[in-house]
Amino acid sequence: MGHLNNRRVLLAVCGGIAAYKSAELVRRLQDLGAEVRVLMTRGAQEFITPLTLQALSGHAVHHSLLDEEAERGMGHIELARWADLLLIAPTTADALARLVAGRADDLLGAVALATPAPKLLAPAMNQQMWKDPATQGNVTTLENRGIHFVGPAAGEQACGDVGPGRMEEPEFIARAAAALFATGLLAGQQVLITAGPTREPLDPVRYISNHSSGRMGYALAQAAVDAGARVTLVSGPVTLTAPERVTVRPVTTAQEMLDACLEHSKTTDIFISCAAVADYRPIEIASQKIKKHDAELSLSLVRNPDILATVSRSTPRPYCVGFAAETQDLRDHALGKLQSKNLDMIVGNDVSDPRIGFNSDENAALLLWADGERAVERCSKHTLAQIIVEEIARRRTS
Ligand code: C5P
Repeated sequence: MGHLNNRRVLLAVCGGIAAYKSAELVRRLQDLGAEVRVLMTRGAQEFITPLTLQALSGHAVHHSLLDEEAERGMGHIELARWADLLLIAPTTADALARLVAGRADDLLGAVALATPAPKLLAPAMNQQMWKDPATQGNVTTLENRGIHFVGPAAGEQACGDVGPGRMEEPEFIARAAAALFATGLLAGQQVLITAGPTREPLDPVRYISNHSSGRMGYALAQAAVDAGARVTLVSGPVTLTAPERVTVRPVTTAQEMLDACLEHSKTTDIFISCAAVADYRPIEIASQKIKKHDAELSLSLVRNPDILATVSRSTPRPYCVGFAAETQDLRDHALGKLQSKNLDMIVGNDVSDPRIGFNSDENAALLLWADGERAVERCSKHTLAQIIVEEIARRRTS
């Protein structure tokens, strides 16, 4: 069964009688591991109170586009970037029409336009409204834009009619949401991922390291597992819990990371090098704690092996993806590394912006390969990971 571990679901509730089921939907999404925030349209608040959904989700409900207070807390663009999935349940006939038109005069419309996350709609309306050619045309248009639908179910309706138009049951919707992340794009593939920093010891109590949190690499491991891959995660020291069904090889130093990678790289189909490997390590590790005698202390360092370049030059060679964290001239530097490290794809990210990259939950990136590129606007690391996995699957088969 699919799950929503580490997924951020933005549940948008529209104004229909089925809105009473949205309260239970929050719970069912949480049961599958999701973090849920709720957005309500004005109409939705006529059917169910924000307080109910606030209590269940544990967060203030978002309902206004032009509310200064709310925009200061988490504005509509922040909310759009926060989401890994925009789930609209219930979706009314009016909401469908507004999405088709790309209206941005309320919070839902603006967030729907601004989010790079996938969208899942659970329609609910009178059966005649559902069957109307205007509504059916809107559904087709949205499906053609890659928007997903769950339901509606057929049966007795609140208005007394019988037919298609009932919102699907919350449990069913939650499962459909989880299934969206389980793509099968890498079914049966062996994927090796490095994540986190390395630590290079100076003496028994000190080390050289960096600020990498490992979140991007762990998100990639989750996305690869969701895509059906068997995943080995070679992880430097981080405080994260590995996703289920991922085999973790904990390592500390760059040399240990290289050894672990070479052990697996011959049998791997795809290698994603996300770790922030320390470029240098102390030539010698002092056997006792280094004492502070002088005003200055010089350390002699030696270059660490380049793990990614080593794997990409080995035979058999997996499909190799690198990361380039840059503070300037992102495209040029990333392209240089694509060539010099003999890679199939590189994910460049601008780490000069403190809102993205190291130690942040969000990222933005420029994906580059030999004859193309794709820019990904700021979004959650889980959404970016999913996009990277999709592009890897697409490039490998094209
Ligand atoms: O050269 P630079 O460190 O910017 O290259 C970044 C890419 O190379 C990342 O994918 C990183 O994981 C990988 N790398 C490596 N071994 C090193 C240094 C970087 O695998 N010693």
